[in-house]
Parts: sequence; structure tokens; C-alpha cells
Amino acid sequence: MKVGVAKETAPEERRVALAPDAIEKLRAANLSVLVERGAGAGASFPDTDYAEAGARIVPTTSLYSQSDVILRIHRPSPAELKLCHPDQVIIGMLAPLLDPAAMAELARLHLTAISLDAIPRTLSRSQSMDALSSQANVAGYKAVLVAAEAFGRYFPLLTTPAGTARPANVLVLGVGVAGLQAIATARRLGAQVKAYDVRPETREQAESLGAQFIVLNSAIDGAGQGGYARALTPQEQAAQQDELNDIIASHDVVITTAQVPGRRPPVLVTANAVECMKAGSIIVDMAASDLGGNCELSKPGKVTTTQNGVAIHAPLNLPASMPTGASAFYSRNISNLLLNFVTLGELRYDFEDEITAATVITYGGKVVQEATRKLLQPASRGGAKA
Ligand code: NAI
Repeated sequence: MKVGVAKETAPEERRVALAPDAIEKLRAANLSVLVERGAGAGASFPDTDYAEAGARIVPTTSLYSQSDVILRIHRPSPAELKLCHPDQVIIGMLAPLLDPAAMAELARLHLTAISLDAIPRTLSRSQSMDALSSQANVAGYKAVLVAAEAFGRYFPLLTTPAGTARPANVLVLGVGVAGLQAIATARRLGAQVKAYDVRPETREQAESLGAQFIVLNSAIDGAGQGGYARALTPQEQAAQQDELNDIIASHDVVITTAQVPGRRPPVLVTANAVECMKAGSIIVDMAASDLGGNCELSKPGKVTTTQNGVAIHAPLNLPASMPTGASAFYSRNISNLLLNFVTLGELRYDFEDEITAATVITYGGKVVQEATRKLLQPASRGGAKA
């Protein structure tokens, strides 16, 4: 069976789905690997490294015509879909819940779509396939570096003959995988870190990394299903925003990471809160996307500076800004998921298996994954809810 590694074509994407060091493992499982010419260039993996590891370097059209399986980061573009052939398998971060209609299109083309972002993350055997976590980890780290780079002062406490620099006050809103890494990174840089999350169980995790956890008086318990947060009611959200306003104003740097699966990210930093921040303060809104962000004033993909001198960064793809490290992790995730399906060099699907049932989104010309199928039913069409 031939496994193809695609060159990503999304704007600003520099990652690649498979690193050269994963090829040996795939070949040991009786898979041969094709790599689209230049696929790893953005991540500093030259074609020669793939060739030395035993892959064949091929042009775009050969990759799509010859591969049984295509490994990628993002969904194929319309132009790439035209190069695909029926029963070809596409594995990547396909975001089925955000765009179920795109999954219906893959089914119509008779492609088998396997989505890494649909992995049941709490199973211990799926941890090594959890690309959401590996990429969120990179993003949390980079968000702090973006803030430190933009901040006009030191992060650590510094005593020098020229005076003493007080440490930066960093606030992390949302203490999931990215938030925990942001706390750890900001602490390593010497900042004083406070953190808040609507799931009470995050307190211990934040504190174990040296952050002071903020408990709001409105004490909302926002724990939802599967370890995620639930969407708050409008009243709960208003109470949360009210209390956070004053807290935000006393921080130099605010990193926001709050997400609710399948929903628009909650607004935690209102325009009013930004107005009360000091000049030179930095916000990095990691939740920003076309659906909105955690900061009311975020402009997805842009850096904006408000009239009172607050810079709001709303990066859309932080993992792509650290492409070699992010690709190395992703490569392990995707090869572990692929090998989960391989028996004697062929793909076999056991739909009784939890990982298969969750990640195989389309098969045999149908959308087979239950959560995506539900979203495609007429009453629930419309993607992410408000
Ligand atoms: P995420 O990206 O969906 O959300 C980030 C954070 O935002 C979450 O901690 C969430 O509680 C918080 N949030 C949402 N709405 C909020 C609001 N209104 N105010 C404040 N915070 C809000 O989450 P992520 O990082 O993808 O994973 C979240 C959880 O999933 C983990 O903490 C863990 O419980 C679970 N998980 C478990 C794994 C395991 O068992 N091995 C692996 C990965 C994740």
C-alpha cells in the first residue's frame, strides 16, 4: 500500500504531516511512502532527507494518482480534491464538526476521510495520536513568546545597577492544553502568572505549574462533557465578563485560549475591559478565528493597537510558526493513527473500535461518524452555534 505525504497549500502553512524519521516505522509495516516534491521544505525537512529515509519524491499529480492514503495537515483544497480518486483515504485535521458539509462532499467523492481532531482524547491508547494536544502545546508556548516579543518590558524580575525591573503580570484565560503550556512558558520566562478557567478541576493543574488560580465570586461551574467546558448561559457569561473586567485591567499580558467544542469561542475580554488596560499591554487571543475570538476586539489573523495603546494579537495558526517542532509531533500522531488501521500492510476498519468509530468520518460513499451525521440532519445544519 502506498502512503503519500502532501505539500500543504493553505496560506502561511509551513508544517508537513510526516517527518523523515517516521518513514522507517511505516516501511516496517509494509507501507511504501511517496512524498510530494518540497512537502517538508517549510518545516526544514528537505526532499533529500525523505529520500534517504526510503521515500520516493514525486510531483503533485503522481502523489494523488498513485497514493492509496494521503497524509496531510488540512483538508484538501478544491484543486487537490480534483486530483483525488474514489476510495482514496485522506487523513488529517479535517474539522468535521466545524464544517460537516465539507465531509458530505468527501463522501460524495467516495473518499474515506479520517480526522485526527476527532480522536477520543481521554483513552490512554489514543494519547500518542492526539494532534489537538500536540499542536495546542506548541501554540501555548508560541503565544507567550509572541507576547514577550511584543511587550516593551522584561518578563522576569531583574535587579541591575541601572535599576530594578518588576516582573510582568500575565493572565491566562482558559487552562486546557494550550493554557497550561502558556502558564509553564510564562513562568519559565520569570513572569508572575494568574490563571482562570470555568472548569474547577483546572485549578490544581494551574497551581502545580506555579500560577495563582482565580476563583470568581459568581463561581460558575462550566464543566461540560468529555473534559471540555460547556457553553455558559448569557447570564452566566455576563457575570463572568463583569468580574473579569477588573482583573484584566491589572495585567500587562493576557493570553486567552478558551474554547467550547462546536461553538463560537466565548468572549472573555470585552471592549470595555480592553479600554481599562494600561498602554503597552498585550493580548494574545489564541481562540480567534472566523467564528470570533475570546477578545471582543480581535481581528482574526491581525495585530491591532487600540487608541489606549493595547496591542491585540489574533494569530490564526501559531503551530505553523514553529513548523519543525510542530510537524515532528504531528508526524508521530498521524503515523500512530495510520498504523492503528494497518494489518498486514492493508487498512482494516473495525467500527466497533472506539478510535475507528470516532475518527473515520466518511466511508463507502457515506458520512459514517455519528456526530457529523447528526449535524447534517436538516434541523441542525449551520455548523458552529452561537
Ligand atoms: P479547549 O481548547 O476546548 O478549551 C480550552 C480551555 O478553555 C478549556 O480548559 C476550557 O475549560 C476553557 N474554557 C471554555 N469556556 C470557558 C469560559 N467561558 N471561561 C473560561 N475558560 C473557558 O480544551 P483542550 O485544551 O483541547 O482540552 C480540554 C480538556 O480536555 C483538558 O483539560 C482535559 O480535561 C481534556 N483532555 C484530556 C486528555 C486526556 O485525558 N489525556 C488529553 C487532552 C485533553
